[in-house]
Amino acid sequence: MSDDIHVRALRKVFRQKGSGVPVVAIDRLDFTVRRGEVVAIVGKTGCGKSTFFNILIGLEKPTEGAIEIDGRTPYGDFDHFRGRIGIVFQQDRLLPWRSLLDNVTLGLEVIGLPPAEQRSRAERWLHRLGLDGFLRAYPGELSGGMRQRAALARAFAVNPSILLADEAFGHLDEVTARQIRGQFFEMVRSEGKTAILVTHQLEEAIDTADRLLVFGRPARLLADVGVTAWPPAEVPALRTRVQDVIETNQPDPAIAAKEPS
Ligand SMILES: Nc1ncnc2c1ncn2[C@@H]1O[C@H](COP(=O)(O)OP(=O)(O)OP(=O)(O)O)[C@@H](O)[C@H]1O
Ligand SMILES: [Mg+2]
Repeated sequence: MSDDIHVRALRKVFRQKGSGVPVVAIDRLDFTVRRGEVVAIVGKTGCGKSTFFNILIGLEKPTEGAIEIDGRTPYGDFDHFRGRIGIVFQQDRLLPWRSLLDNVTLGLEVIGLPPAEQRSRAERWLHRLGLDGFLRAYPGELSGGMRQRAALARAFAVNPSILLADEAFGHLDEVTARQIRGQFFEMVRSEGKTAILVTHQLEEAIDTADRLLVFGRPARLLADVGVTAWPPAEVPALRTRVQDVIETNQPDPAIAAKEPS
């Protein structure tokens, strides 16, 4: 199994419930994310980033095209992908009536781990995220940063090969966000995960990802840049180019995505 994510001629059109007016959320996306890559997706609000994630985690079906991993589609083969794709959302989505430990073991129950292992694995991840003193605490007793750390523990404990983060750090203060983002990428890299991060913050994307995908609105690939290939001195120029691409909704030839063959 390669775990590469193949996105092929992906298109998603919603129909507004009341009026029936079609909304093109994804115009056309073609790209491949290789196993172990750390990719950031940037683009204007409403450009279809969350829609893309929802298809990737199997919650939505494409209107046309496909996302394939090992020849299967997450929306067609939901059970096969259970536990293989983890997501960290903007809201921590912890269950308020369960302790932190029980929030983390929940995901492990779902993948059928024996209770003793559920517990030891959950404890290990909560420990790694600096929450060992709070195993029995309830989410309402914790700060936003601590809750988001618990959400990271929950996502990583399942040991998915692919991790997605949708604006997962944007609501925290800058210092906390930087710290937790750092932990996220440290864990992604040390565990050899494939990661796709959606962010409004271009700095964050360029600082942390190996590769940047710039989505136009509606989603199509305007730029596909290997960040690490840019010498550090040229990174400010890269940032300006990407900003222009986002603003104008037009590709820049220097960093344009290649047309699919
Ligand atoms: N379930 C839905 N029904 C109808 N339209 C939808 C639905 N989900 C998303 N859309 C529309 O699809 C477009 C893309 O939305 P999406 O949430 O994917 O954007 P986004 O890039 O995640 O934006 P943001 O950066 O604000 O989170 C928007 O125009 C939105 O209104
Ligand atoms: Mg979104």
